[in-house]
Amino acid sequence: MIIKNQHDVTTAVLAEMARTPNPRTKEILSAFVRHLHDLAREVRMTEDEWRAALDYIIALGQRTSATHNEAMLMSGSLGFSTLICLLNNGDHGHTDTDANLLGPFWRAHSPPTPNGASIVRSPTPGPALFVKASFEDRQSRPIPGAAVDVWHSSPEGFYENQDPTQADMNLRGQFTTDRDGHISFRSVKPAGYPVPVDGPVGDLLRAQGRHNMRPAHLHFLAVKEGFKTLISQVYTPDDRFLETDSQFGVTRHLIGNYVRHDAGRAPADDVQNPWYSLDHTFVMEAGEAKLPKPPITGKAQGERPKFPRLA
Ligand SMILES: [Fe+2]
Repeated sequence: MIIKNQHDVTTAVLAEMARTPNPRTKEILSAFVRHLHDLAREVRMTEDEWRAALDYIIALGQRTSATHNEAMLMSGSLGFSTLICLLNNGDHGHTDTDANLLGPFWRAHSPPTPNGASIVRSPTPGPALFVKASFEDRQSRPIPGAAVDVWHSSPEGFYENQDPTQADMNLRGQFTTDRDGHISFRSVKPAGYPVPVDGPVGDLLRAQGRHNMRPAHLHFLAVKEGFKTLISQVYTPDDRFLETDSQFGVTRHLIGNYVRHDAGRAPADDVQNPWYSLDHTFVMEAGEAKLPKPPITGKAQGERPKFPRLA
């Protein structure tokens, strides 16, 4: 159709899209165009603002590399990742779920590690943490033989992929649940950390007067045939950014029971007080066991980067 005014544009685009053969593609793209056009109308978007929006999109790609995924970070910073997660887990958002964000730091091929072993692979000072995690189905039956990836930041707030001073795959490991559906491992207590702010996500956070911190957490990814792959995080209850997570990942259900021990016999002889323990049970839903695409594939080289804190 020949366009006469701003209202006709939306009609014209939707009319051309009506030929889309795949019904789901048609549904998504039609809704996208309607909402995008309505957004511009609602805020009376100027030409300068539109150019700035395009620059944001360009920068998301330009800032993404083998060791960093700016698009994933932006999705989290807008709460979009958590919305998608909660829409697709826990009976489509109706019940509590152990599902949570994958985040930008999962790497494939974590080292297979026996239960009870440590995932500290290079000197990493910090309070010892002993984790026991149980995996069960919705009828509380244990799930043996699940492959469980674990990864987390150091007590200094760096994932090993960001930090050339840490050994490759430090604070990462893959465990297999035993006959009772349990894994266990030793590590160090993770710290909260700032997300990078040298790209468009930083521009967004500064423009909104927001900090760039994530509260401390452990990541889990569990795979077992017959179950939907469970991607989860378990947050420490003592972090001051729990209620203002820059990535909006914290749900009440996933604030873990990390216990601080100032006395008593630790599970290993070389442990100093205080040390911590975490015992957590995950419920896996029936579904498809498929792995997500790793957001990153490599490890940073050279100097340890400096991540400013906007807090
Ligand atoms: Fe994380």
